[in-house]
Amino acid sequence: MNVQFDFSGRHVMVFGGTTGINLGIAQCYARAGARVTVASRKQANVDAAVATLGAAALGVVADVRDEQTVAAALTQAVERHGPIDVLVSGAAGNFLAPADQMSSNAFKVVLDIDLLGSFHVARHAVQHLHPGASSLIFITAPQSVVPMAYQAHVCAAKAGVDQLTRVLALEWGARGVRVNAISPGPIAGTEGMRRLAPQGEQGDALVRQMVPLGRMGTTDDIGQLALFLGSDAASYISGTVIACDGGAQGQLSPMIAAAADGVLKKT
Ligand code: NAP
Ligand code: COA
Repeated sequence: MNVQFDFSGRHVMVFGGTTGINLGIAQCYARAGARVTVASRKQANVDAAVATLGAAALGVVADVRDEQTVAAALTQAVERHGPIDVLVSGAAGNFLAPADQMSSNAFKVVLDIDLLGSFHVARHAVQHLHPGASSLIFITAPQSVVPMAYQAHVCAAKAGVDQLTRVLALEWGARGVRVNAISPGPIAGTEGMRRLAPQGEQGDALVRQMVPLGRMGTTDDIGQLALFLGSDAASYISGTVIACDGGAQGQLSPMIAAAADGVLKKT
C-alpha cells in the first residue's frame, strides 16, 4: 500500500482498543507516528496491546458502561499526551441469542456497552478534543441497518450508534469536531467473527458467496479507513456512516444463521 498518512505529534485515543479491529486501528495510527492511548476493561488486554504499540503508548483500564472510569481514562490520557486529535469509540459486546430467550439483562448489557458506552465516551471526550479540528469515529456494524435474526440487541444498539453519529455531527460541527462511523464487514481473525460465523471451510464458502470482493476484510483495511477519516484529507466529511465491507452491503444474514445453527441447537 503506498498511501501514507503522517500523524506525528497527534494524539489518538481508542476506547475498546486493546484487541481485534480497534487494536488494528490503534496500530495503524501508531505506525503513522501518532501518540496512542488505548482503553478497555481488562488489565491483561491493556498490557498486551501496549506491548504491540510501542513504548510511547499509554494503556488505561476503563469500562465504557461506567462514565466515571471513562472520564478518568480521558484525564489520564490528556495528562500524558495532550488534547485528543482523533477519538475512536469501538467497545462492543455480541452473542447469538433468539429474542424470546434473551433476558432483559442480556439485551441491556449490549445496549449498555455499544450505545450508552459510545455516548459516555463522546460526552466526556468532547471537552478534551483538540480545539478547532478533531475527528470522532464510532465503530458501528451492518446490524445497524440490516435486520438480522438472533441479533435483536446488536441491531437496536448499533442503529442507535448510527443516529448518535449524525446528531453529534450536527451539534459539534461548529466546534470543528467531525463525527463519523465506520461499519466493518466480516473481518478475519476477530472475536466478532469467532462468535458470528461458522469456522473453517463452511465460513470461507459463505464469505465467498456474500462478499463481492471474495474475501474477509483485514484489521488493516479498517485501520486505513480510520486513518483517512482522522486525517485532513477528510476535512469536509462529517455525519456519515461508511461501510468497509468488500461490497457485501450488510448481507451477512446467511453467515449468522449458519453460525446460530451450530451454536444454538446445542443449548
Ligand atoms: P473484540 O476484539 O472483542 O473487541 C472489543 C473490544 O472492546 C475489546 O478490546 C474489549 O476489551 C473492549 N470492551 C468490551 N467491553 C468493554 C467495556 N464495557 N468497556 C470498555 N471496553 C470494552 O471485537 P471485534 O470483533 O474486533 O469488534 C470490534 C468492533 O468492530 C465492535 O464495535 C464491533 O461491533 C465492530 N464490528 C466487528 C465486526 C467483525 O467482523 N469482527 C464486524 C462489524 C462490526 P476488554 O475485554 O478488555 O474490555
Ligand atoms: N446467550 C444468551 N444470553 C447471554 C449470553 C449468550 N451467549 N452471554 C451472556 N448472556 C447474558 C447473561 O446470561 C446475562 O444475563 P442474565 O443476568 O439474565 O443471566 C447478561 O447476558 C450479561 O452477561 P454477563 O456475562 O454478566 O456480562 P458481562 O458484562 O460479563 O459481559 C458480554 C458482556 C456478555 C457482552 C460478553 O460477551 C463480553 O464481554 N463481550 C465482549 C467481547 C465481544 O463480545 N466481542 C465481539 C464484538 S462484535
